[in-house]
Amino acid sequence: MKEKLIKIIKEAGEILRDGYFSKKDVNFKAKKDLVTKYDVAVENFLKEKFSQEFKDFNLIAEESDNNNIEFGNSIIIDPIDGTTNFVNQVPHTAISVGVYKDKKPFIGIVYNPILDELYESEVGCGAFLNGEKIEVSKEKVFQKALISTGFPYSSGTNNEDLLDVIEKIKNVLPKCQDIRRLGSAALDLCYVAKGTYEGYYEMNLKAWDVSAGIIILLEAGGQVSNLYLQDYKLFEDKYIIASNGLIHSHLISNLVMK
Ligand code: IPD
Ligand code: CA
Ligand code: CA
Repeated sequence: MKEKLIKIIKEAGEILRDGYFSKKDVNFKAKKDLVTKYDVAVENFLKEKFSQEFKDFNLIAEESDNNNIEFGNSIIIDPIDGTTNFVNQVPHTAISVGVYKDKKPFIGIVYNPILDELYESEVGCGAFLNGEKIEVSKEKVFQKALISTGFPYSSGTNNEDLLDVIEKIKNVLPKCQDIRRLGSAALDLCYVAKGTYEGYYEMNLKAWDVSAGIIILLEAGGQVSNLYLQDYKLFEDKYIIASNGLIHSHLISNLVMK
């Protein structure tokens, strides 16, 4: 199944790449939440191909109505993760596809067609970037850890979320090496998986933002949890905390510090 998925996702990458270099009309789903005709075109392409090839799976996808779709055997699709980057030609943007069997991780694929980076993993088989095995970093010292985060779209309208973002940065920034905000949750998880970042946290993400990256990170030896060190639950948890495993509890204790 993984090889078929990769072939289809690479084809969809051509739609993303064409859009990236052309002039785009932008629509707003919410104050900060953008969508273009390319998000819809990539999604429609993937859904059509996946429904022909993988009849036993439900398709859950960002730009679709997912109301009556059960999370069981599912392929969870973000057609363009990092749409703000895509619109502004910042090259950190990717197609994210996570496959779950009976709600359990099975295959994760994140493809950035601009930088031609394909991250992929099947549970039990390790994680790979363009065919080369990747592993999380071995850094244990939190002061040397490069941490990534993201800012929720709700920060434009919800003051509580905005204050929470600021509070957490205030807690973590002095204690770590530095903080990055790359603009694609799927790629952030892959960057922890390949050892670029030691850790990553963000609030209010949707299942399609992280469904694939979680699988890739776990297979690269990393750890993923909620803010209470419990397993992160797609569709449920507010916060995702991801790391190389070695700085995980330091990251959480710094985030929740009063
Ligand atoms: C967004 C990106 C971003 C994160 C946002 C997500 P989108 O996804 O992953 O990094 O900070 O919260 O919603 O809207 O570009 O698919
Ligand atoms: Ca996304
Ligand atoms: Ca998206």
